[in-house]
Amino acid sequence: MAKARIGIINVSDRASKGIYEDIPGKAIVETLSQYLTSEWESEYVVLPDEQDQLEAKMIEMADSKDCCLIVTCGGTGPAVRDVTPEATERVCNKMLPGFGELMRQESLKYVPTAILSRQTAGIRNKTLVINLPGKPKAIRECLDAVFPAVPYCIDLIDGPYLECNPEVIKVFRPKSN
Ligand code: MTE
Repeated sequence: MAKARIGIINVSDRASKGIYEDIPGKAIVETLSQYLTSEWESEYVVLPDEQDQLEAKMIEMADSKDCCLIVTCGGTGPAVRDVTPEATERVCNKMLPGFGELMRQESLKYVPTAILSRQTAGIRNKTLVINLPGKPKAIRECLDAVFPAVPYCIDLIDGPYLECNPEVIKVFRPKSN
């Protein structure tokens, strides 16, 4: 089977200028490497909080690079330049609000400011897009909550069959579990 391709976008004005180290982007790669046992490769980029650039990159990753999954981090809050959820909604043809609901619910166990994140998820044709907040520790907190449903979601949109290490993350496929 062809290698699954996963797009990772760290959305941060400061990381894109090299003022901050790209810690959350690296944390996504590290977390997915721990979860996935099937072969995969990343399409990786750091972008400023610019909606048009974000939309163009998501469209390229989905339509030209055949990414079955795009994970963004950052730009989900209420600040003027936070536009990641808007870009996600613009490029997706279906939204999956349950992802944001669950991630906020989980994040509230750690920080009361979890409600400030407008993080969401959606489908662009055969690509699932998931937003995470930009705080490095939020990456694992949010991905651990929603990832059990991600491989089945990708099955449903005719993506590659993702296999995971059950000792790290227990995925759920209704037909096989
Ligand atoms: N979720 C988790 N799990 N951990 C966090 O530290 N930070 C919150 C929230 N969600 C946080 C979290 C804060 S302080 C903000 S402002 C929002 O995410 C938005 O963050 P972003 O703009 O970096 O995406």
